[in-house]
Amino acid sequence: MQTPSMWRHTLTFFPQFLAALKERTEPDSTVTVIGASDGRLVVPLAAAGYRVIAIERDPLALHGGEVQLPGGRTGHATGMIERLKQEGLHDRVQVVEEDFLASEPVTAPCDAVWTSCSWHYSANHHRPFGEFVDRMQRLVRPGGLFGAEFMMPLTQRHHVLEHYTSPEKLRHYFIGDWDVLLTLRTNEFTEQAHVGQLQDHNHRMGLLLAARASTPS
Ligand SMILES: C[S@@+](CC[C@H](N)C(=O)[O-])C[C@H]1O[C@@H](n2cnc3c(N)ncnc32)[C@H](O)[C@@H]1O
Repeated sequence: MQTPSMWRHTLTFFPQFLAALKERTEPDSTVTVIGASDGRLVVPLAAAGYRVIAIERDPLALHGGEVQLPGGRTGHATGMIERLKQEGLHDRVQVVEEDFLASEPVTAPCDAVWTSCSWHYSANHHRPFGEFVDRMQRLVRPGGLFGAEFMMPLTQRHHVLEHYTSPEKLRHYFIGDWDVLLTLRTNEFTEQAHVGQLQDHNHRMGLLLAARASTPS
């Protein structure tokens, strides 16, 4: 990536998702990324040959602009659209600037869907958590792949919010047509300060990968 993403230092289970994607889908499959941010994980998908539909609600993440950095500094963040142009990947990515919960998905069922730590954002708390999961599931064609990494609860406030979930709780949404392929979780770990969280802070993260049956049961 020629321009560093705001999220480049944060932990991700994306390699596990990419490995499952390579194993289970064709090289030019379509992957929808919900909460695509400034493109950190969209770029490697497009560079690997996938067609990507990148849904993001934050204009700063898409178009770039001034950001507050750790240490009281300010800087210019490159948005996803500019980054994709710089990487020569613009024509492989359809950028959708909208809140995923605000309207019916404009896209047809795709081969895989992925989200990285979007569920816990306060903008999603006005809707039941299950609605986000259900909308993502409905985007996946029969035989397709679902992947999500997510924040697990740490503080008392997190524990009363269903949007901070766990692999165990999430599994309950994957019955019937779904086969859970992999769940992973971290212990509590410290992450360096970054845009949006200007002090070093602690997280616990989880991952769930699931495949949709090729024929409905
Ligand atoms: C933590 S960031 C993703 C960063 C990612 N880990 C990475 O490395 O690129 C989560 C993103 O999800 C977006 N998001 C959260 N809820 C959303 C929603 N309902 N619709 C669209 N985007 C959403 C946020 O605006 C944010 O840019």
